[in-house]
Amino acid sequence: MAKRIVLNETSYHGKGAVREIAAEVGARGFKKAFICSDPDLVKFGVTKKVTDVLDEAGYEYEVYSNIKPNPTIENVQTGVAAFKESGADYLIAIGGGSSMDTSKAVGIIIANPEFEDVRSLEGVAPTKNPSVPIIAVPTTAGTAAEVTINYVITDVEKRRKFVCVDTHDIPVIAVIDPDMMSSMPKGLTAATGMDALTHAIEGYTTKDAWEMTDMFHLKAIELIAQNLRGAVENTEEGREGMALGQYVAGMGFSNVGLGIVHSMAHSLGAVYDTPHGVANAILLPAVMEYNADATGDKYKYIAKAMGVEGTEDMSQEEYRKAAVDAVRQLSIDVGIPQDLKEIVKEEDIQFLSESAAADACAPGNPKDAGLKDIIAIYKSLL
Ligand SMILES: NC(=O)c1ccc[n+]([C@@H]2O[C@H](COP(=O)([O-])OP(=O)(O)OC[C@H]3O[C@@H](n4cnc5c(N)ncnc54)[C@H](O)[C@@H]3O)[C@@H](O)[C@H]2O)c1
Ligand SMILES: [Fe+2]
Repeated sequence: MAKRIVLNETSYHGKGAVREIAAEVGARGFKKAFICSDPDLVKFGVTKKVTDVLDEAGYEYEVYSNIKPNPTIENVQTGVAAFKESGADYLIAIGGGSSMDTSKAVGIIIANPEFEDVRSLEGVAPTKNPSVPIIAVPTTAGTAAEVTINYVITDVEKRRKFVCVDTHDIPVIAVIDPDMMSSMPKGLTAATGMDALTHAIEGYTTKDAWEMTDMFHLKAIELIAQNLRGAVENTEEGREGMALGQYVAGMGFSNVGLGIVHSMAHSLGAVYDTPHGVANAILLPAVMEYNADATGDKYKYIAKAMGVEGTEDMSQEEYRKAAVDAVRQLSIDVGIPQDLKEIVKEEDIQFLSESAAADACAPGNPKDAGLKDIIAIYKSLL
C-alpha cells in the first residue's frame, strides 16, 4: 500500500507568529471565531495574546473554556452546544493538547452530527466531512496536536481515554509561536517536552516507520535533546528549539503511529488524571529497554541524536544501553520522577494493563506486547 503523509495546509513558525492570524482570517473570509482554550490560559492572559490580534483587526470571536486537562466527553458536548449557539464559522484552538483535541472533536461533530455521542469517533471514524476549519495555536511544546490527525478524549464513566484518528480533523493552519509557551512553569515544560521526545522515539521505532518519517523523528530527537534543558530554564533559544522540535515530531508520528508508552500513559491519564507528559516520561526508558531487541540498529541513531559520542564504535548492546541512558539522564535533569510509586495503586494494575493492551497505539509498538508484558512493565516501576 502507498504510504501517506498528511500535514497542515499552512504553518507559521517563530516568535511573533500569532500576528499572522489576522491576515489568514481576512484572506479566508472567516467571520467569527469559536475559541477553545482552558480556564487557566484565560486567567493568565495566554489566550489574550491571540484575542489581542483579533481585537486589533476588528474580528469577532467568542471564547469557550470548559476544558480540563485530559478533556472529557462532556467538555466536547458542551462545546458542540456552545458552538451551535455562537454563530461561528471557524475554530481557533489556543492551548495544549487538551484545548486542541477538544476543538478537533467539536469541529468534527459540527461537520458530522451523526457522531454527536463522541464515543463513536474512537479509532478510525468514517466521518464524511472535514472539520470546521481550525487554526491551532499550541501553548505547550509537547503534543503537536496542531499538526496531527489524532485527538484523545477521556471517557470518565468507563475510566478510559480513547484515541480518534481522522484526517478530517487536521487543523488547516498551525501557528507555532514560542512566545505562547514562555509562561509555562518548569514542571509543565519538562513534562510536555518529554511527551514530544516520546513521540519522536516511538514514532521512529514504530512498525510503520519509513525514511520520510525517520527524517522527522531523528531531527526532532536532536532538537529536543539540545533544547529541552534550556526551555526548562526558559531561555529564548530553548523555547524556540522545543517549539520546532515538538512540531517536527508531530509531522512524523501523526503519519505512522506510536507504541505502548502512549497506550500505558493513556490508562494512567484516565484512571489517575496523571498529566500526559509525566506519564510518558516515566514509562519511556522502561519501555525502551523492553523494546530494544526488536529495534535493529535504531537505538544507535537515537543515541547519536541524543548527543552521545562514539556510537559508531559501540556494540549493539552498548548503543542500546547508551540510548536508554541518555533518555533517562535528560528526564532526571529536567526533574521528572523516575517511578510510578506516587501514582499507581497495585490493585489497579490489571485494569490499567487491560486498557493499555486495547489502546489504539498498542499495535504500533515494535514488539507485540501482551498483557503479561504490560503488567510486568508497570510493576517494574513500583
Ligand atoms: N492530538 C494528539 O496528537 C495528542 C498527542 C499527545 C497528547 N495528546 C493529548 O493532549 C493532552 C495533553 O496536552 P498538554 O500536555 O499539552 O497539556 P494540557 O493541554 O492538558 O494542559 C495542561 C495544563 O497546562 C496549562 N498550560 C498550557 N499551556 C500553558 C502556558 N503556556 N502557560 C501556563 N500554563 C499552561 C493548562 O492551562 C493546563 O492546566 C492529553 O489529553 C493527551 O492525551 C494529544
Ligand atoms: Fe503524547
